[in-house]
Amino acid sequence: MNRKEILSVNGLSKVYKGEGFKVEALKQISFRLETGEMIAIMGTSGSGKSTLLNILGALDEPTAGVIKINGQHSKDMFQEPKASLYRRDNIGFIFQSFHLLKDLSVEENISLPLILKGEEKSLITPKVNQVIELMGLTDWRKHRPVQLSGGQQQRVAIGRAIIAAPPIILADEPTGNLDFNTSRDILNALVDMKQQLNQSIILVTHDANVATYADRVLFFHDGSIVDEYKCGAENDLEYILEKFKTITERLTV
Ligand SMILES: Nc1ncnc2c1ncn2[C@@H]1O[C@H](COP(=O)(O)OP(=O)(O)OP(=O)(O)O)[C@@H](O)[C@H]1O
Ligand SMILES: [Mg+2]
Repeated sequence: MNRKEILSVNGLSKVYKGEGFKVEALKQISFRLETGEMIAIMGTSGSGKSTLLNILGALDEPTAGVIKINGQHSKDMFQEPKASLYRRDNIGFIFQSFHLLKDLSVEENISLPLILKGEEKSLITPKVNQVIELMGLTDWRKHRPVQLSGGQQQRVAIGRAIIAAPPIILADEPTGNLDFNTSRDILNALVDMKQQLNQSIILVTHDANVATYADRVLFFHDGSIVDEYKCGAENDLEYILEKFKTITERLTV
């Protein structure tokens, strides 16, 4: 599939200030994301990964820097109501702890973004059916989240993130609460989805194994991108582990 730039981030900085503290969570971050590309972000705890995702999702405002979607920069993208519209049209979120609505069924949780968009019911049903099938949830569509395993709940969360076909999926430790086999299934589902729908994914992870599913890995340390790795070799895992080890060793010297 043709690739083009969907997102560009230039000189993004975030300073948290409060009484008696000042944290530079992001220091002049710049990178580009293409359509159909999956970028993994690996970094030590506190290196600014969640801060970056929150800003890219317009849940938080940067101190400096420019974000462009499809080459367009909107100065007030962090102010309501623009921020909500930006999220609705561009972003799907997947979190470590699923964030499903407990009183709604699987199909209701998945259809939520379309309902919020005001889409007609006759258009919602076929889309929900397609996503439920893609996520392997056909037998669980009437279940509530509490009746599902962690992996199944994460499939629902992914279904909800992709149903409105947002060009960008932001995933913060999406497999952090799942065992090895379930994580592999979820990651394969994300890769399938990205290929079928040409969506782009930014995935934060501590796990080098998870990062091998990405096209590219950005390594974060202390608010900066300190290294990058393009996946595609047979021994991606070894390279990623080695680079990450070098970064964490730098911490202890
Ligand atoms: N709302 C906030 N107010 C003040 N400081 C904050 C806030 N959110 C994050 N920070 C600080 O910013 C830095 C980056 O935090 P962030 O949550 O982005 O790290 P992270 O890379 O996601 O870490 P982890 O791997 O532990 O999730 C940390 O030093 C953190 O304490
Ligand atoms: Mg985090």
